[in-house]
Amino acid sequence: MPDSTAVNTMFGRIAKRYDLANRLLSGGIDLWWRRTLVRSVRRAIPRDVLDLATGSGDVAFALGRGLPRQTRITGMDFCQPMLDEACLKQTAAGHPFDNVIFRLGDGLALPDPVASYDAVTIAFGLRNMADRHLSLTEMHRVLRPGGKLFVLEFSQPRRWFRPLYYFYLLRLSPWLAGLITGERPAYEYLGQSIGQFPGAAALAQEICAAGFSQVCVTRMTFGIVALHEARK
Ligand SMILES: C[S@@+](CC[C@H](N)C(=O)[O-])C[C@H]1O[C@@H](n2cnc3c(N)ncnc32)[C@H](O)[C@@H]1O
Repeated sequence: MPDSTAVNTMFGRIAKRYDLANRLLSGGIDLWWRRTLVRSVRRAIPRDVLDLATGSGDVAFALGRGLPRQTRITGMDFCQPMLDEACLKQTAAGHPFDNVIFRLGDGLALPDPVASYDAVTIAFGLRNMADRHLSLTEMHRVLRPGGKLFVLEFSQPRRWFRPLYYFYLLRLSPWLAGLITGERPAYEYLGQSIGQFPGAAALAQEICAAGFSQVCVTRMTFGIVALHEARK
């Protein structure tokens, strides 16, 4: 699993170009993956939502757009430059996001008491946690009984699609992202971290091992990405 300090430094370096690189590397499909996540969260009718590893805030803002105005949404990340990008976007957007706040916090030691939230979302963040089990148990701790966890993350695609996908991920995308961000090693890490991440069934087991139940998986785009939902 990745080293926390290295991950924090790396995201700090790419923060300013993070959104642009995301859109170009995914061809914009990441917006659809996030919308699918928000639709699932809406069904849970939460009052308090934590978007952990919020980064530049795209999921927090999508939740702000997709959930009722009275829902309180906290975007949390341990990388200040990523949060700075989120805050800049919030200021630029003005009042539509006045129910979204951003806070600094570590997913391995969340700064909130037991049972603070009805839903926790984490998009493309769990893979970057230095200790997945600890991070999942922290998410479990801050959820209220019956609360829901939503993990949107890269997964292992269908077998026939893997050669093409990994060629893109390990060869083309670091080169392209290097041009956009000037930080090619960060995107070499991205490809490697996806390659090492568990498939959907194995991740479901890890989620159960952290105390969750009723895990349900939705695979998207040939299995490139999976949404895991689970209940405390
Ligand atoms: C790939 S970005 C995902 C950002 C955002 N959720 C999105 O969908 O675009 C991963 C984020 O995880 C954050 N992260 C990694 N480890 C963390 C930790 N231990 N605590 C909080 N945030 C962490 C990084 O700082 C980074 O912003």
